[in-house]
Amino acid sequence: MKGVILAGGLGTRLHPLTRITNKHLLPVYDKPMIYYPLQTLVNAGIRDVMIVTGGQYAGEFLRLVRDGREFGLRAVEYAYQEGEGGIADALRLAERFVGRDRLAVVLGDNIVGGTIRASVEAFQTQRRGARILLKAVDDPQHYGCPDIRKGKITAIQEKPKKPRSPYAVTGIYLYDSSVFSVVRHLRPSARGELEITDVNNHYVRKGWMAYDVLDGWWGDAGESIEAYLRVQRMVAEYGANKVA
Ligand code: DAU
Repeated sequence: MKGVILAGGLGTRLHPLTRITNKHLLPVYDKPMIYYPLQTLVNAGIRDVMIVTGGQYAGEFLRLVRDGREFGLRAVEYAYQEGEGGIADALRLAERFVGRDRLAVVLGDNIVGGTIRASVEAFQTQRRGARILLKAVDDPQHYGCPDIRKGKITAIQEKPKKPRSPYAVTGIYLYDSSVFSVVRHLRPSARGELEITDVNNHYVRKGWMAYDVLDGWWGDAGESIEAYLRVQRMVAEYGANKVA
């Protein structure tokens, strides 16, 4: 399985911090933000990773992560996203790297207290499609939010005014290589982006979407400046990427 970290975008919700660097290079407690999703993939047994980023600070990722060996990676590749066309637009750039393999996608601002290994292993035996990780949160309206009926996801809404469940769809997604053809057929949303929620709803409609509820704490450090602070407190107090 290949790993893909999406670390493009403008990070405007963390302005002015992100005026002078890429969001995923900002410190989260004692490490740059990107270290955490890298460790999440390594702890799940993934050794080949692509980092997708863009903008004027893209070169800094190379200076920081280099050949990835320090993290236990076999190889790290980089892709440059022109513009900020959305999460699914960034994912498109990993097609050649992934080939016919399966992939674990982690958004560069998503940090976990534990590991995603059990989900990655479960996905390896899943026949086809996609698998997402959910986490119960106090503010599901700020995230992708699933509607769950009789234990099955029936739809995902992106930042709904009236959430239909207490769960956030975390930025950790497992796909087979069919995802690249799904992305090719997407249309931009009202905000002009190719939305990962539209990708996930494709698999929901087909009946090929599975999910797990993530163990341990989870945070989206880019959601707001408050969330950025909250995540740093969690890392300082409880630690991140802990292997049981
Ligand atoms: O964190 C989980 C949430 O992430 C999900 O619940 C939502 O369904 C999903 O849409 C996403 O929401 P955000 O509002 O947090 O997405 P954001 O625009 O902040 O992008 C998240 C990451 O994706 C960001 O850290 C870098 C990457 N990205 C984003 C854009 C727009 C790119 O690589 N390229 C892009 O063009």
